[in-house]
Amino acid sequence: MTRRAVVAGLGTYVPQKVLTNQDLEQIVDTSDEWIVSRTGIKERHIAEPGETTSMMAAKASVRALADAGLVAEDLDFIVCATNTPDTIFPSTAARVQHQLTSKPIPGVDVQAGCTGLIYGMEMASALIQSGSYRNVLVIGADKLTSITDYEDRTTAVLFGDAAGAFVLQGREDTGRGILASYLQADGRGEDLLVQPAGGSKLPASAETVAARQHYLKMNGNETFRFAVKAMPEAVEEGLKKAGLGVEDMTLLVPHQANLRIIDAAVRRFELDPSRVVVNIDRYGNTSVATIPVALQEAREQGRVHDGDVVVLCAFGAGLTWGSNVIRWGR
Ligand code: UT7
Repeated sequence: MTRRAVVAGLGTYVPQKVLTNQDLEQIVDTSDEWIVSRTGIKERHIAEPGETTSMMAAKASVRALADAGLVAEDLDFIVCATNTPDTIFPSTAARVQHQLTSKPIPGVDVQAGCTGLIYGMEMASALIQSGSYRNVLVIGADKLTSITDYEDRTTAVLFGDAAGAFVLQGREDTGRGILASYLQADGRGEDLLVQPAGGSKLPASAETVAARQHYLKMNGNETFRFAVKAMPEAVEEGLKKAGLGVEDMTLLVPHQANLRIIDAAVRRFELDPSRVVVNIDRYGNTSVATIPVALQEAREQGRVHDGDVVVLCAFGAGLTWGSNVIRWGR
């Protein structure tokens, strides 16, 4: 019998502090009307200055472990998807391990833009299927507000902070778990969504800081055009790899970057809104955390059932895009 990675637990953490569109009207030249009509966002949660990505990740992880009925010492591996690590090194995965337990656990960060969580799930699934690891924690955590330029209205209104974590567990194949994943990256889009300074290409200096190059920069129009094509491709190709079609998909959990991008996918597939999870209005774009936070809300609303085909799909910097197709159930 083959082994499969089953979702044994899911937990999320969202900081308490809320930044509304009205608050942003006081900071940049924008309006609630523009933000809602162009993005669907009404408010987002933001972390306190001292609250790091790893702290949010650890809080989500504790909840995911409790949901799985496990303790940190049961974990065999930690995969942490993030674009805003506490520091470029050491990894956020190692920092989370340290916050969870004194027992060493192997761990690594995955950086694939907002698609990082999808990559992390597939990598964890492969580790489990190899037979070398049983319980793998997959985290998606980002503090995007730490690299958001609040003098740039084209990006300042979009982002929030959050974390989510899945406990994936290797089980004999019962038809439940991650059925297939579809992953893509194309570096021709490297300049569309980028943090220009702070890496080997443009090390941080007084000049880069003065030029505000340590903040995220985005070509919104081009990214939007890419996303409208990438999301449906990821859904269709992921389902195809699982031997399924769009008609078999019970619930779509798309990356929450812009309501208009989600709506385009809904129209393309002629989906009933009850089959798509949307919560961008209350959280904005929290990067790798949007999917676990949205999925957890759907679970709490009783929208996820044993045997459902749940499709997670995302796109982001790189450019990257991809999907995980999961048959829900433990
Ligand atoms: O997960 C990461 C992936 N990122 C994304 O998915 C983002 C994808 N892109 C988008 O979501 C959209 O492109 C944005 C929401 C970023 C922008 O929406 P848009 O409809 O593409 O607007 P635009 O950039 O074409 O700008 C339209 C107008 C411009 O004014 P003019 O030149 O027409 O006078 C902008 O200057 O809206 C202006 N504008 C704003 N006005 C008020 C841009 N940002 C704002 C703002 N408030 N915050």
